[in-house]
Amino acid sequence: MTAQDFIPASYSKTVESGQFTWESPSNIALVKYWGKKKNQIPENPSISFTLNNCKTITALSFSKKASNKTFEFDVFLDGEKKDSFKSKIETFFERIYSYFPFLKDYYFKIETENTFPHSSGIASSASGMSALALCLMSIEKLLNDGMDEVYFIKKASFLARLGSGSACRSLEGDLVVWGNHSDVVGSSDLFGVKYPGEVHENFKNYQDTILLVDKGEKQVSSTLGHNLMYGHPFAEQRFEQANTNISKIKTILETGNLNEFIALVESEALTLHAMMMTSMPYFILMKPNTLEIINKIWAYRQSTGSKVCFTLDAGANVHVLYPENETTKVLEFIKNELVVYCQNGQYICDQIGFGAIQIN
Ligand code: DP6
Repeated sequence: MTAQDFIPASYSKTVESGQFTWESPSNIALVKYWGKKKNQIPENPSISFTLNNCKTITALSFSKKASNKTFEFDVFLDGEKKDSFKSKIETFFERIYSYFPFLKDYYFKIETENTFPHSSGIASSASGMSALALCLMSIEKLLNDGMDEVYFIKKASFLARLGSGSACRSLEGDLVVWGNHSDVVGSSDLFGVKYPGEVHENFKNYQDTILLVDKGEKQVSSTLGHNLMYGHPFAEQRFEQANTNISKIKTILETGNLNEFIALVESEALTLHAMMMTSMPYFILMKPNTLEIINKIWAYRQSTGSKVCFTLDAGANVHVLYPENETTKVLEFIKNELVVYCQNGQYICDQIGFGAIQIN
């Protein structure tokens, strides 16, 4: 498929107004996306667990307006008007306009809420952009009678990607690959696909407890961080490594080898942060407590034989990953030894989920 395939012919119907609501989860990458080409094309393929509890719920109301010269919309977060979100959405609308020619025909009211605390340091761009893309697809489906489900989900992921790269991995579950890789059938740089390979029982209901280490605003946004991969001295090796890791994780997912899973996932997390530290300008998003937690996890694993491990996204928070059968013990360990490193003792219990759902 090419981007051209997502440009609609003419619509078969006209619609005056309506409303759609979708809830879409966040996701956590196991092999990371860090570095992109023009038009939100990733430099390397990535794979993520879809989460279950951390999600965005977005209601999109639309009504036909008199003129179709500009985008007109308002955004509300938790019932409060959020003009500060408008420029991001305006940019998103500009990027997707050629794929959604109806965007200037309607006034949109976007009402959104997250299930996780707003200033938790958990990025809401993946869940937020995917929920919005799905709402817009529901409108297109109304205009274009007979659209099939496969096209619907592919185009929604394609659009979510244009909002925020990792958002294209939030629509389905429980594992999603984004980026072309010869070992993953159907994979594409343009959208995320549900991981098609065999997955061992060990990964069923895998747990992710997110330790909120630092809830402040990030000093460096992901978008800026991605850009620093241009001319980065280790960029090519990194992109090659990510490709190799996709092949490796395919075997790991199939065999259920948790020791190899741990090694790959933790190495990916530290490599991501190593890329940040070796950018020019360089930056560090981990905090002292991030390292305290990592060391505690290593010591706990050493002394108990547990299969708990960590991963990080572009921030200081730690995602603690572990198999379902260790839930009681690991939660005990978290409460006894890790909560002290969390801001206000806060953490979120999540687990693998199965993607977005339409509410109405
Ligand atoms: C470290 O998807 O937030 O979480 O495409 O610029 O919106 P933009 O970036 P974004 O980057 C996420 C990076 C990451 C790794 C990952 O999720 O794969």
